[in-house]
Amino acid sequence: METSIYEKVDQYIADLLGKEDESLKSAAHFTESSKLPPISITANQGKFLQVMAMACGAKRILEIGTLGAYSTIWLAKALPPDGKIISLEYDPKHAEVARTNIKNAGLSSQIEVRLGKALDLLPLIEKEKLPPFDMIFIDADKQPYAEYFEWAVKLGRPGALIIADNVIRAGRILNPEAQDENVQGVHRLNKMLSGREDVTATIVQNVGSKEHDGMAIAVINK
Ligand code: SAH
Ligand code: DHB
Ligand code: MG
Repeated sequence: METSIYEKVDQYIADLLGKEDESLKSAAHFTESSKLPPISITANQGKFLQVMAMACGAKRILEIGTLGAYSTIWLAKALPPDGKIISLEYDPKHAEVARTNIKNAGLSSQIEVRLGKALDLLPLIEKEKLPPFDMIFIDADKQPYAEYFEWAVKLGRPGALIIADNVIRAGRILNPEAQDENVQGVHRLNKMLSGREDVTATIVQNVGSKEHDGMAIAVINK
C-alpha cells in the first residue's frame, strides 16, 4: 500500500521532533513483546502531551488508562523533580507491564499506577483530598468518557488542562447513530463539551502513522 502524504509528514515530524529516548524505545518494545494491544499513542502525540504539560506548568498529572505507560513516560519527562503522575489501569497484566517500564525508565518515584476500574478509583482519589491536578489525560474505555470528563473537572484546578484521546475514530464520529458503543461514548463527550460553560474546549484531529483520530482539549475556566 502506498504511504499517504499524512504518514510521510508524520514521519518527517517524528524524525525532527518526536525522537524517543532509550526508555521510551524499550517501553514501546516491551509493551509490544508482552502482547498488549497496539493502542499506545504515537511518538508525535507523546511529544504533543509533553509540550502541553510544560505549557501548563504541570506538577501533578492524572492519567486514566495506562496500558504499558508509554504515554505516562512521555508526560513524566515534562515534570519538575517533585512532580507526580497517578495513572489508573484496570487490567492487572497491563499494570504489571507498565510498572516494569516505569521502573526501567527510573520513574518509579514519580509515577504511581493504581489498579482498578477508573470509576471506582476516582471517588477514592477525591476522598484522599490530594491537591488538585494540573493536567488530566483521558485514554481508557470510551463509553464513560463524559463521566471521566466530569471527574477531571472535579479533580483539576482552575486553569487545568484536560485532554481526551480518540474522539474522532477515523471519522466514524460523523455517524454517531451507528451501533458502535465507542463512537457513541466519545460523541457524548464531544456534545457535552459544546454545551459546557465551565471549560473552554476544542478538538484537534490527528492524521498520522497510526490512524485518523483526534484529541479533545479543554481548559477549566478560572
Ligand atoms: N495511555 C496509553 C494507552 C491506553 S489504552 C498510552 O497511550 O500508552 C487504554 C487502557 O485503558 C488499556 O490498558 C485498558 O486496559 C484500560 N482501561 C479500559 N477500561 C478501563 C477502566 N474502566 N478503568 C481503568 N482502565 C481501563
Ligand atoms: C483504542 C483505544 C485507544 O485508546 C486508542 O488510542 C486506539 C484504539 C481501541 O480500544 O480500539
Ligand atoms: Mg487512546
